[in-house]
Amino acid sequence: MDKETLNIVDRRTDAAYDLPLYKGTLRAMDLRRIKTGPEDFGVMTYDPAFLNTASCQSAITFIDGDKGILRYRGYPVEQLAENCTFLEVAYLLLHGELPTAVELRQWIAGITRHTMLHETTKKFLEGFRYDAHPMGMFISTVAALSTVYPEARHVLDPEVRRLQILRLIGKVPTIAAYTYRHNLGFPYVYPDNDLSYAENFMNMLWRMVEPKYQVNPVLARALDILFILHADHEQNCSTNVMRAVGSAQADPFVATAAAAAALSGPLHGGANEEVLRMLDEIETKDRVPAFIDNVKSGNGKLMGFGHRVYKNYDPRARIIKWAAGKVFEVTGKNPKLEIALELERIALEDEYFVKRKLYPNVDFYSGIMYQAMGFRPEMFTVLFAIPRTVGWLAQWQEMLEDPEQKIARPRQIYTGHEARDFVPLERRGATVTA
Ligand code: CMC
Repeated sequence: MDKETLNIVDRRTDAAYDLPLYKGTLRAMDLRRIKTGPEDFGVMTYDPAFLNTASCQSAITFIDGDKGILRYRGYPVEQLAENCTFLEVAYLLLHGELPTAVELRQWIAGITRHTMLHETTKKFLEGFRYDAHPMGMFISTVAALSTVYPEARHVLDPEVRRLQILRLIGKVPTIAAYTYRHNLGFPYVYPDNDLSYAENFMNMLWRMVEPKYQVNPVLARALDILFILHADHEQNCSTNVMRAVGSAQADPFVATAAAAAALSGPLHGGANEEVLRMLDEIETKDRVPAFIDNVKSGNGKLMGFGHRVYKNYDPRARIIKWAAGKVFEVTGKNPKLEIALELERIALEDEYFVKRKLYPNVDFYSGIMYQAMGFRPEMFTVLFAIPRTVGWLAQWQEMLEDPEQKIARPRQIYTGHEARDFVPLERRGATVTA
């Protein structure tokens, strides 16, 4: 007998089934063979929030949550953060291999050609209220690109896809920087294509009247490292949205906007904004123990802690802590660092957090670093969305090329009423009181 099978006995019928295991998983469709009779639909799985369901096969990102391992295309993220630029990693995620020198040059040139926004898109952005949340502006403007590039809907054409990928990677920093300037009431700064990806982003954020923006190389490198660390994270909430919307063959601009909408939630990419709010609320280091006791009594969560997949220290958090140290050498220390370090120290020793395997995640230190660089918390998720656009696109492309994928359409367990007859409006109150 093949050992890679599960033997299931259905006690309702006493029938036995040998169900093959595929790479350690059960194909849910095989369960449909298990029926009580010809009229029976067959057994389904019930898995709210996909806690134990693989929705796809993917060769992009590997995570071992128990060991705290994260690899892109097989390369440990630590090695990539140390040795690569963000655009090199973007190439790796999208193409499967690191680029040669020539490929990298062409790749960078291809993206740099697409950093400008159409003037009407710029005007579209100008229409937002002065205090609009940058993530709302980012999501809407990325979606609006779909109106500028209608050919993007031909998602099954690899050449069309490639062009939209270049456009999106090129334009998301421009959109992000414009949302930042919009809130400040500053004029938008056009891209400077002599600069690297992170440098140009800084130029569009912070250039005032000087003819050429002088980049601080430490801050530019720290930003590039943060981009690398945020580039992909396999089937997280927003990536799942990208794949689900993309599976209906919607164009990549609206699909990316939908993924970014998911990212904006406080339990996902919005968490680093919440970390800063939490640190503000704690105010001083001596109030940390009382705050932790409050969390343990069920009042809120320790933001920036815990992860659906990591049950160990998030490897990205360790590198961000290091990069934050480098940034503080330039900007001066963020006073919130002391509170964060104390929170981490106490939480890592506290039985509540130890038992639940709650460790700092990617968002715990990134906000403190971003704040030291001059960003308001509202911008943090936008900074996450820029590099994650690459991951979303890599996953979207893989999904479209996967012959096993179809439009995403989960099943449900219906818990509503049995069939009942319509009640006319004039008799409805009577029905309730009868
Ligand atoms: N603080 C206090 N308790 C927590 C926390 C936390 N941050 N996270 C989880 N728990 C508790 C939770 O109450 C539960 O306790 P019990 O077993 O007594 O009911 C237990 O730990 C398991 O939690 P869970 O909610 O089942 O875990 P999950 O896998 O569904 O949630 C999470 C993962 C990230 C949504 C959650 O840990 C959380 O809300 N963390 C705070 C928000 C945050 O930092 N999010 C960023 C995630 S990383 C970046 C990203 O994905 O975008």
